Amino acid sequence: MTNEEYIKFFKENKSSNNKFHVRTYGCQMNEHDSEQVEFIMSTLGMKKTDDYTDADYIIINTCAVRATAENKVNGFLGILKHEKERNKDFKIVVSGCLPNAEKDLDEFLRLNNHIDILMGTANYNKLPELLYNSLYDKKTIVDISDQYDVESMDLNYNRMYNHKAFVNIMYGCNNFCTYCIVPYTRGREVSRKLDDVVDEITKLSANGVKEVTLLGQNVNSYGKTLDGNVDFSMLLKEINKIDGIKRIRFMTSHPRDISDEVINSYKTLGNLSKHLHLPVQSGSNKVLKEMNRHYTREDYLSKINKIKEISSDIALTTDIIVGFPGETEEDFLDTLDLVNEVGFDSVFTFIFSQREGTKAAYREDQIPHDIKMERFNRLLDAVNKNALEKNLKYIGKSVLVLVDEISKTDENMLSGKTDTFKTVNFKGDKELIGDIVKVKITDANTFSLQGIIDE
Ligand code: SAH
Ligand code: SF4
Ligand code: F3S
Repeated sequence: MTNEEYIKFFKENKSSNNKFHVRTYGCQMNEHDSEQVEFIMSTLGMKKTDDYTDADYIIINTCAVRATAENKVNGFLGILKHEKERNKDFKIVVSGCLPNAEKDLDEFLRLNNHIDILMGTANYNKLPELLYNSLYDKKTIVDISDQYDVESMDLNYNRMYNHKAFVNIMYGCNNFCTYCIVPYTRGREVSRKLDDVVDEITKLSANGVKEVTLLGQNVNSYGKTLDGNVDFSMLLKEINKIDGIKRIRFMTSHPRDISDEVINSYKTLGNLSKHLHLPVQSGSNKVLKEMNRHYTREDYLSKINKIKEISSDIALTTDIIVGFPGETEEDFLDTLDLVNEVGFDSVFTFIFSQREGTKAAYREDQIPHDIKMERFNRLLDAVNKNALEKNLKYIGKSVLVLVDEISKTDENMLSGKTDTFKTVNFKGDKELIGDIVKVKITDANTFSLQGIIDE
């Protein structure tokens, strides 16, 4: 049967009254994959529900990057097992990064025999077929490909927002940082063709999208798997020409691979947002080497200084791991020192988590939990101090805010982002959602800015 036939089957026979629930863990890649899942489920005629107890199909899009992410998934799976045993008739699909991170898949499936479909990150297009098969097969259906076929992928999404969109420019990762599970869960790196990416964004713009976030685990190696001389700076240049796209963001950059051309794009491309997320992971050369990151602290600082020379207004954010195996107090102090030297706008701080299958997980010099926690807290203090300092500088300034939504904490307030990726809360009519509005900043804290509309 073709995909169209599976879709027809569901529409005609099964699913007009069926509801689906998608639960997403992990990063923007997963969020975006879930937008694709939502599209596919709606083509089958099903309706989305936010209440999983009301769903006929529950899709869990999983993350395995740290134990905390995996525990959350397992917690939810535990609840569902209980519900299924109480004879509730619903199907469970587990997708995303966890299936490929499992070392002992048979054992996982034995413990989780209530899962109907286990699928990988690269084959969402097969979801209708897998759902069809699971109607007739009581065993768990396993199809965990991580081989992306970028040419024939059908990329349609039920997007979370009308005014901004995620766009995949590449899949997978070849870096094998020694702590990281992602190369095992998302397979080898492969780039989408430049024209395909530009076409997708042109269509998005025609539909009112003003901001795109280009997604890839290592966007600076974009083009390496393509014929011809294509690289990330060329892609940025082409996207910058697309009418209607006012903000171009990208995630994530690898410090080794960010080229001078990309850095200079902050000077030459008017629509490139003034924000760079450049994960450093550690400030110690010894640790960086053992992480297999292929740059030194000095290399990193030199790239940051080039950015700062272009403009001191470009917001800088990063990821840091504390407690990598063998990290000494001195190594940690190098990290603290780097944090203070750069003065990041914000930092995603992580405690090292042993991921089975990665090199660092098997080292014998693991750092005791209490030392990791103590370093983590010291790092957080430094990070928060820098973030507050950066945010306080906005007070009194007028900024352009792309309005995202009604604020989660106060329904009379709107929430949006500056070009520099700062969250701004301000009073305004919900009609403004999707517009770019001028806001005068009146107050600031560590994580956000407050303001009033600047007429
Ligand atoms: N491709 C991106 C990041 C992907 S994972 C990059 O290279 O920057 C997101 C972040 O999770 C990483 O930057 C790292 O800081 C963190 N991370 C990954 N594996 C981890 C582990 N085993 N323990 C703790 N943090 C981890
Ligand atoms: Fe993981 Fe490193 Fe690849 Fe990022 S670049 S996804 S941290 S292996
Ligand atoms: Fe998690 Fe996979 Fe993203 S492991 S962080 S969902 S790439």
